[in-house]
Amino acid sequence: MSSSVLKIDNLHVSVEGTPILKGVNLEIRSGEVHALMGPNGSGKSTLAYALAGHPRYEITDGNIEIDGAGLLELDPCERARLGLFLAFQYPVTIPGVKVADFLRHAISNVRNPERREGEELVPMREFRKELRSRMQELDMDAEFARRYLNEGFSGGEKKRMEILQLAMLAPKFAVLDETDSGLDSDAVRVVSEGLAKLSGPGMGVLIITHHERLLEYNIPQFTHVMLAGRIVETGDAALAHELHSNGYAGVRERHPDAAAEETEALAGQS
Ligand SMILES: Nc1ncnc2c1ncn2[C@@H]1O[C@H](COP(=O)(O)OP(=O)(O)O)[C@@H](O)[C@H]1O
Ligand SMILES: [Mg+2]
Repeated sequence: MSSSVLKIDNLHVSVEGTPILKGVNLEIRSGEVHALMGPNGSGKSTLAYALAGHPRYEITDGNIEIDGAGLLELDPCERARLGLFLAFQYPVTIPGVKVADFLRHAISNVRNPERREGEELVPMREFRKELRSRMQELDMDAEFARRYLNEGFSGGEKKRMEILQLAMLAPKFAVLDETDSGLDSDAVRVVSEGLAKLSGPGMGVLIITHHERLLEYNIPQFTHVMLAGRIVETGDAALAHELHSNGYAGVRERHPDAAAEETEALAGQS
């Protein structure tokens, strides 16, 4: 299995003219699990949206690369083709589209770089076979694929959908931005166990979370702490544990300059 690297280099991102990320450096390799933590407003989601290629997040400096190929000029779909997968807290509902149809389009888009809207999809037989075996591996009921995407889904079902999408797309890098927030414990278990099942030597994972559960199932080799738009500390799973227990007061004390910038940014918003 080939090894890949997602490299974020001196990334500066502004939103509506306000600088939010101020030089983020992060390298994730295949097989690694990284946790990204930090207080609300520190810029974690901004990093996730910048990786996704959201048009509101303007890259003013720095670079993002997968195996040396720059991402900044690419649209979100092209980034997905390079092997990037992002999951956010609120999944989309597309009226009238079934789970299976959505997944067939998604994998067709990602696997065939020449494909244009309306062109051929992954052949139905092949797709069905693949979908069935992924669903079996994840202990999912076949009926689920015939449901309408996210319509009337429980929190747990939305997470099952996300995990199934991850299984079908088999990305090189998966970024999960608080995908476990606001869920009941059953749903948190679905996403925690599902991710643990799917991650392995071929995938690098970045988990943005406030919960411990997701990181108990998916133990990070690296924990990064963001404060005021920069990664100010990197440690291992013990750091994640410490932050869960004690919060960010210690981080702010160790990084007074960043803490002052945080206070300043908050004052600017009110
Ligand atoms: N779309 C946006 N429009 C305006 N401000 C934004 C937007 N996204 C983020 N911000 C601002 O950027 C800062 C970082 O936010 P965010 O990346 O969501 O932090 P986190 O995910 O760590 O809580 C905050 O001050 C927030 O108000
Ligand atoms: Mg966020």
